[in-house]
Amino acid sequence: MIQPGSTDAIAVLGGTGRQGRGLAQWFARAGLRVIVGSRDPVRAREAVAGWPATGPPPEVADYVAASARADVVVLAVPFVSVDPLLQELQPHFKDGTLVIDVMVPVTFAGGKIALIDVAEGSAAEHVRARLPPAVRVACAFKTVPAHLLGAGFGPLDCDEFVCGDSDEARSSASALVALLPGLRPVDVGPLSRARSIEHLTTLAIAINRRHKTHDARFRVVGL
Ligand SMILES: NC(=O)c1ccc[n+]([C@@H]2O[C@H](COP(=O)([O-])OP(=O)(O)OC[C@H]3O[C@@H](n4cnc5c(N)ncnc54)[C@H](OP(=O)(O)O)[C@@H]3O)[C@@H](O)[C@H]2O)c1
Repeated sequence: MIQPGSTDAIAVLGGTGRQGRGLAQWFARAGLRVIVGSRDPVRAREAVAGWPATGPPPEVADYVAASARADVVVLAVPFVSVDPLLQELQPHFKDGTLVIDVMVPVTFAGGKIALIDVAEGSAAEHVRARLPPAVRVACAFKTVPAHLLGAGFGPLDCDEFVCGDSDEARSSASALVALLPGLRPVDVGPLSRARSIEHLTTLAIAINRRHKTHDARFRVVGL
């Protein structure tokens, strides 16, 4: 399990984007060794410029190099771009790498929010089907809004749902969630729960639209 202060590395693919950059910055702030993965090293260097120096300095790399060096790989790219990316990355993962799927397969066609049909059931299961068995897969950080991840490091004050293909994948992903102040991991079981989590994200987007906010997120009571 990756921990602050260890030499293990976490790569965030799409680490220049809204969700990926926010997550990468939180992980770096928690003291993890972070690799920001990008198709464009210049963009990646710009993304990490000015981060507070609280842990190892953030590294930048293209997607293949970032994945090959990492023990945990966060997929924070658009769902529509993930198939060619996984095909390219497949031979480069280390055995035992944990891949964390953050993607929500959503479309906004005609102004309507809808989940894209995914044959495997969810984005997370789609990813699982395209990776070698020695790579573990978990799903997390799908319902926390990028807007808050980038908002000056205040406590996030919500729960984050985690599912995965093994107890180990879920507990490692939950430990990462718990590194973000105010974010409580809620283990919801196997990867087949990922579609429910993706539905919750579309619900949060709809709530945001209806109530003219960007901050909707979830808290489970009774746990
Ligand atoms: N925004 C949110 O609130 C939120 C919440 C939960 C989950 N998510 C999920 O997180 C993922 C990223 O969302 P985002 O809002 O951060 O998107 P974004 O700001 O557009 O960033 C996406 C990143 O993906 C990378 N990328 C790789 N291949 C790409 C391609 N073919 N086309 C475009 N970008 C590509 C880009 O990095 P390089 O160009 O540097 O390679 C880009 O910085 C999505 O799957 C989304 O569903 C987002």
